[in-house]
Formats: sequence, structure tokens, C-alpha cells
Amino acid sequence: MSDVPETAPETASESAEAAAEAAAEAPESKAAVTDRSAHLEGAADAVLRCDELIAGYLPGVNILNGSDLYVKEGELIGIIGPNGAGKSTLLKAMFGLVNIRSGTVLLKGENITNMKAHALVSRGVGYVPQTNNVFPSLTIEENLEMGAFQVPGKFKERFEFVAELFPALKERRKQRAGSLSGGERQMVAMARALMTEPSVLLLDEPSAGLSPKLQDLVFIQAQQINKAGVTVIMVEQNARRCLQICHRGYVLDQGRNAYTGTGRQLANDPKVIELYLGTLAKA
Ligand SMILES: Nc1ncnc2c1ncn2[C@@H]1O[C@H](COP(=O)(O)OP(=O)(O)O)[C@@H](O)[C@H]1O
Ligand SMILES: [Mg+2]
Repeated sequence: MSDVPETAPETASESAEAAAEAAAEAPESKAAVTDRSAHLEGAADAVLRCDELIAGYLPGVNILNGSDLYVKEGELIGIIGPNGAGKSTLLKAMFGLVNIRSGTVLLKGENITNMKAHALVSRGVGYVPQTNNVFPSLTIEENLEMGAFQVPGKFKERFEFVAELFPALKERRKQRAGSLSGGERQMVAMARALMTEPSVLLLDEPSAGLSPKLQDLVFIQAQQINKAGVTVIMVEQNARRCLQICHRGYVLDQGRNAYTGTGRQLANDPKVIELYLGTLAKA
């Protein structure tokens, strides 16, 4: 595999192609510490953007301390950072699962701050949580039917779409999800989220708990999903691998943006390497 993202899918907008090209051709310049003006400039034509999010679970305890993020159509974005940095919380905040105390989330210009998950699904946002992301007692097919309940009449068409991405699921459609391996379950979880035809997919650590070989497969699948025209925001503990495939990445630390840049810029930045990709970061 090349360590440079391939070009954006044909179905994606020109801006996404430009973003992918920029990522591929980016010089070995340093990743920038996020600054507001750069964010505002980049976020202007974003599909989904977060501005200065402050959010938390318990009264008086903020987990996100002013996070910014944007994704353009057709991009694959990576979010990395130490355990407990707030990566999952950031995804949950975008998907209406944690209370946003201040700041905004915009989807195609519409204010979706604190909008509930079902309303977001019908607006084209998909979400795959880190754990408990399949119904183990249901078959693969039934899991996908559950995923499609908000798009009645579309099951067959969407099933064909996900079966092309994950052929193994079609062959084993009658098998119960609980009897599948971790890697196969992750496939079911991603396929389930794709049943509603999301334009933006949020993936929380899809490679967690998998063997190195299966981890690699998950990264390839995330890229394939992206190339099929879906904009992807991916949180990952396998930071190096994530930076290899993402167009742009964010390093989150203590609920704040620590660094941002193209995947290659971040992977080559001495500070990012020292603080987040070195031996300490692997612990
Ligand atoms: N449901 C919850 N209730 C209270 N605190 C939580 C909850 N979920 C996460 N936290 C806390 O929020 C912080 C960030 O967690 P999380 O977003 O899961 O981090 P990451 O995904 O980067 O590892 C941690 O200190 C964690 O203990
Ligand atoms: Mg997490």
C-alpha cells in the first residue's frame, strides 16, 4: 500500500478531489497547531462542521473544551489522540448523543446542534459506535433490516450496495451476528450504518480489538466506503495507519485540537511523532 491517499472518488465533488490531490502532493511541511482563522477558511464549504464545541456528560465537567472540526464532501478525516482525549465524545456530540453546552454543529449549512440521532439519520448522517454495534441474536440480514428501517422499500437496493463492499456478508446473510468474528461483526456494523444511504459516516475505532491483519482490512474497507462516495470521519487508536489513509487528520488532546494537517504532514511532524505516535502513545 502506498502511504499516500489515492485520489478521491469520481462521485465526489471537485473540491474533494482537490483536497485529495493536495493531501497526496503535500510537501513535508509541518502540521499546524489548529488556529481559528485556518479552520474558518477551510470550513467554508464543509459538509459537516463543528465550531468551538463544549460538551460533557456530568454537570460542571467539560470533556470537549472548544473543539473545531470540518469535513468536505468526499473527504476521509481521521481523529487520533490519547485515550480519554474525547475522541468518542466528539463523534457522539455530532450524533446527538452527548449534550453540547456551547458551540455549533452544521450539516450542509443547517444547524444540527443537539439534534437527535434519528433526525440526523434522516438527514444523511450515519454512526458506528465503538462497541455494541450489532444485534448479536439477529442474523446478518436482520441486522441490516434494522439498519434500513428508516428507509422503507429500499432494503434490496441498499443490500446490493453493501454486498458489493462486503461480499462475505451476502454469502452469510442467514448467520447470527453473535457467532461472527470481531472483524466480521465490524463489517456488519459498518454495513448496517450504510443501509440508510448516509452522505457522512462517523466511525468510532473500527479497528479496535482486531488482529493486525483484520485491522488492515478494516482500513481498506473504510477507504472503499469513502471511494464509493461517502464522506467519512474516523476515530482511530491505530494512529499511524489512520494517518496513512486519511486526507486530513486531527489530533485531539484533553478535548482540544492539538494539531491538524494532512495525514502525511501529521505522520511526519516531529512533535506529533514524539507526543502521539511514539512509544508512549502506543501504551
Ligand atoms: N458516559 C460517560 N459519562 C461520564 N464520563 C464519560 C462518559 N463517557 C466518557 N466519559 C469520560 O470522558 C472522557 C473522554 O472519553 P472519550 O470521549 O471516550 O475518550 P476517547 O474516545 O478519546 O478515548 C474520559 O475522561 C471519560 O472517562
Ligand atoms: Mg473512544
